[in-house]
Amino acid sequence: VERQEAKALRQRLLVVANRLPVSAVRKGEKAWSLEISAGGLVSALLGVKEFEARWIGWAGVNVPDEIGQKALTEALAEKRCIPVFLDEEIVHQYYNGYCNNILWPLFHYLGLPQEDRLATTRSFQSQFEAYEKANEMFADVVNKHYKEGDIVWCHDYHLMFLPKCLKKHNKKMKVGWFLHTPFPSSEIHRTLPSRSELLHSVLAADLVGFHTYDYARHFVSACTRILGLEGTPYGVEYQGKLTRVAAFPIGIDSERFIRALDLQGVQNHMNELQERFKGRKVMLGVDRLDMIKGIPQKILAFEKFLEENPSWRDKVVLLQIAVPTRTDVPEYQKLTSQVHEIVGRINGRFGELNTVPIHHLDRSLDFQALCALYAVTDVALVTSLRDGMNLVSYEFVACQEKKKGVLILSEFAGAAQSLGAGAILVNPWNITEVADAIKRALNMESSEREKRHKHNFLHVKSHTAQEWAGTFVSELNDTVIEAQLRTRQ
Ligand code: G6P
Repeated sequence: VERQEAKALRQRLLVVANRLPVSAVRKGEKAWSLEISAGGLVSALLGVKEFEARWIGWAGVNVPDEIGQKALTEALAEKRCIPVFLDEEIVHQYYNGYCNNILWPLFHYLGLPQEDRLATTRSFQSQFEAYEKANEMFADVVNKHYKEGDIVWCHDYHLMFLPKCLKKHNKKMKVGWFLHTPFPSSEIHRTLPSRSELLHSVLAADLVGFHTYDYARHFVSACTRILGLEGTPYGVEYQGKLTRVAAFPIGIDSERFIRALDLQGVQNHMNELQERFKGRKVMLGVDRLDMIKGIPQKILAFEKFLEENPSWRDKVVLLQIAVPTRTDVPEYQKLTSQVHEIVGRINGRFGELNTVPIHHLDRSLDFQALCALYAVTDVALVTSLRDGMNLVSYEFVACQEKKKGVLILSEFAGAAQSLGAGAILVNPWNITEVADAIKRALNMESSEREKRHKHNFLHVKSHTAQEWAGTFVSELNDTVIEAQLRTRQ
């Protein structure tokens, strides 16, 4: 009966993430143009029929005036989105500062900022305060729209403070939190000045989810070692209840990619690419231009490969799509110049008058062009230094049913745990190893390519984003019901 009641209540899901799945451009005092970004999370939630999702998040734009805010709120409502308005100063301190300059690098094992210790410590504190304040602003919007029985699913490192804010307001709220990045070893997490506050806050949730079992284990270790709490195989004992901790590996909407390959637009793109790179093997990298993606290391490995294998020089090309991201953060600006410098040097060194070995684009591609690129690729290079999961590897596999190309995959991406058997796994820091993997991939026999592809394709097809979202939400419901039953006993 309890479970049936829960099913009946399983109608509304409030998805809270830093960013709404729309890009908003202001066209006038009251006019906004909105474009839905069809990312993994959006299709995951659209695919789950048992509940109706509403999104709460920042629209990614500064809207200082009330008229603009009202108009944007109305426009977003049609897309089932609810905005949280953050002013420029908060965005600077919370998003650029605490989220992207402190938590993001730390969770990817790149450590805390190393500049002048005192200066960092002072700005660290104000950034942490802005982080708390921003999380409270998200909580206010959730509380305003929450109805009894709703499920509230908080996403990612931006909102680690949110579960506590929500539960403080309403103990009965069903709150889940999912981390899309790695959760690092507890020895890394303990260097963070606000390590305990964040752990306490996340533990206020009913269910805490990660992409891999290792991340979940690291989180439980951080709670036991730093907070002295009791860990169990199911989670952490916290304030008289069990906070469930588990792994929920995300996937993609694989059918969307597989179907796209039949579209005329995609076929046209494929023909153009095949013509353009005739007689050459195509190697591909698609990454946000982020230091965790290991783009300089990847390009240096490609250089080493060209250096050691002169006969391949006019037979291979590397297409690197580097999507600009977080461009207000100085680290990202430095990385952009560094990548440009390396690409320029290698093209100068190995290029000919009519061709260069690396085609580097600082922009994203539309969906059809991207699918075509995946489909004509012989070898994909996903060599992140650390990555929560990495869905580019999944998208590539989904588009390779005909070609059966090779995936070179970092052992430090969450995806290595699911696609490891079909990919060539590498340590992205080891440039010699990656250069050797490139050679091996380019020379691989078709029978081996087929075997490897089959393994990965079956995985990508059967572990979809929809299944991921459905599993998390039903586990959250069950966790809450079990906790209620336990307190009644
Ligand atoms: C990662 C994070 C996401 C984030 C995305 C893009 O995948 O886990 O939460 O939205 O990067 O980054 P941005 O800072 O542009 O939102």
